[in-house]
Amino acid sequence: MCGIVGIIGKSAREAILNGLTKLEYRGYDSAGIYLNDLQGKQYLTKTVGRIQNLKDKMTSDEQGQVGIGHTRWATHGKPTIANAHPQFDETGRFYLVHNGVIENYQDIKDKYLQDTTFESNTDTEVVVQLISKLAREQKLTAFAALKASLKLIKGSYALLLIDNTQPDHIYVAKNKSPLMLGLGDGFNVIASDALSVLDQTKTFVDLHDGEVADITKDNYQLETIAGNKVTRKPYQLNIDPDAASKGTYEFYMLKEIAEQPSVLRHLIQYYLTEDGTPKLAPEIVDALAQADKFYIFAAGTSYHAGLVGKMLLEKYAGIPTEVDFASEAGYHFPMMSKHPFLIFLSQSGETADSRVVLQEAIKRNLPSLTLTNVPGSTLAREATYALSLEAGPEIAVASTKAYIAQVATQAVLAKAVGEKLLKQEARNFNLANDLSLAAEGIEQVLTQQKKIEQLTDQIIIPSRNAFYIGRGIDYPVALEAALKLKEVSYIQTEGFAAAELKHGTISLVEKGTPVVALINDPVTADLMRGNIQEVIARGAQVIIIAKQQLAKATDDLVLPELNYYLSPLITVVVAQLIAYYASRDKGLDVDKPRNLAKSVTVE
Ligand code: M6R
Repeated sequence: MCGIVGIIGKSAREAILNGLTKLEYRGYDSAGIYLNDLQGKQYLTKTVGRIQNLKDKMTSDEQGQVGIGHTRWATHGKPTIANAHPQFDETGRFYLVHNGVIENYQDIKDKYLQDTTFESNTDTEVVVQLISKLAREQKLTAFAALKASLKLIKGSYALLLIDNTQPDHIYVAKNKSPLMLGLGDGFNVIASDALSVLDQTKTFVDLHDGEVADITKDNYQLETIAGNKVTRKPYQLNIDPDAASKGTYEFYMLKEIAEQPSVLRHLIQYYLTEDGTPKLAPEIVDALAQADKFYIFAAGTSYHAGLVGKMLLEKYAGIPTEVDFASEAGYHFPMMSKHPFLIFLSQSGETADSRVVLQEAIKRNLPSLTLTNVPGSTLAREATYALSLEAGPEIAVASTKAYIAQVATQAVLAKAVGEKLLKQEARNFNLANDLSLAAEGIEQVLTQQKKIEQLTDQIIIPSRNAFYIGRGIDYPVALEAALKLKEVSYIQTEGFAAAELKHGTISLVEKGTPVVALINDPVTADLMRGNIQEVIARGAQVIIIAKQQLAKATDDLVLPELNYYLSPLITVVVAQLIAYYASRDKGLDVDKPRNLAKSVTVE
């Protein structure tokens, strides 16, 4: 979604443009930058489209010692220059960038800003106009006017404000949208994502919801909107900036797919002892083991990982598990068992839909655990417990290695809880060995990339639509495979429990329709073969992917053997590669599919 970078105390232009470039992966459709040289000159440049357009538009004079930049993913108002940020007030004194959504912007406009001339259709402009009006009419400083405005505003925001009558300050505020302050020597940076400023500093201070800050080049003052001072210890973020670079790969997505074996090997080290015992904090295992039911909440790919997690948790921990879309559960909270335990799966840890559910869980005093790839993210901070997915930065919008890590980490939970509850299944679960076999299995799939690309080019790309079908453990993989293919290639794809197809959707199958069939389930393998015949009889072009023991000589891809419940770790990689080649060979921007954002911080 939208991205924010601000800097004060050093040459701002390059730092902001580099930072925004690093945020490109999050998805955006316009961008802008405001610079002030502290000598009376200021510059505002905004463009539609890529950051490169912004760079091309800026003249060499445009420099500053303070500045704010933004990538916008349109919500209120189309992607136009007028709607791009920074937004400014009608007197030209204040410049503001904002992530999030101001829910009561129309009320504020009607009540306080009837005489104001607006230049954009954004909810953000309402904020900067309100700050300006309160500063003028109530003779407030910029910081006081910001705080006064926030008392009237409802919604989510991470915002940065510059007052050009006092440009050696950046004022910031946060509510429900990520924002962090990075501390430098003689300068400070503010960003919505630490990755964007890791080349400037590794020392950060988090801002919490309802907090504001007044930032100068050497100092910062953190307080609540009500004006109470806040002190918070800075921390070091030890992420290797190279981990977020593309290296020699054409796209991040392929790099991240290729990293999956090392992600699994790292997780073995991180979460299992040498003898294969889970290394989890005892209080987390105890809390999980006391539950009579698990409720997993997630969205998109994380939801699909949750469906696999359900099977792992039920099999090895023996605890019934329900998986819900966070976006639905937030407003239709599921009926809970007597001793529920809530698990949140989120790569980014910032998904607004999941946060709504977590807030409700907090209100109801329910225990929760977030599994996220971004320790310190909102969902990690606010849940009772948090565990890291340890997948390293995932830049491509399409989630790949985070999914693998979510499945593996849920397997660790299942084993740990099952062992705690003395379940024989859990004791016999040789997870370290299975994860290491999965890593080898993925490597084997990676050696078949040429073949996968050929199948994709011949069968998938020529079609406007496609199906993935599977039964048992392959059904949630079919859902994930379909999401992956449609999100990056724009080929309309549906994942189906194979037998369900004939209850309606098979009417869409016609000559040449691609149907990818997944066969890892020994119990239903023969039935799957029957379902495949049904679609072939209607003209479908079928790609059959089967595990070794169930494969036939005519199958298209044969997958290495693996524990049934972990088989998604290998099968999904074929689907990720199909999606990758479908997108790349159609000439699309694989890492930044249209209309999508990496972290979905609005509901
Ligand atoms: O950060 P999260 O895991 O909470 O994000 C959930 C979904 O938005 C995400 O998985 C999305 O579906 C991806 N585009 C999938 O590739």
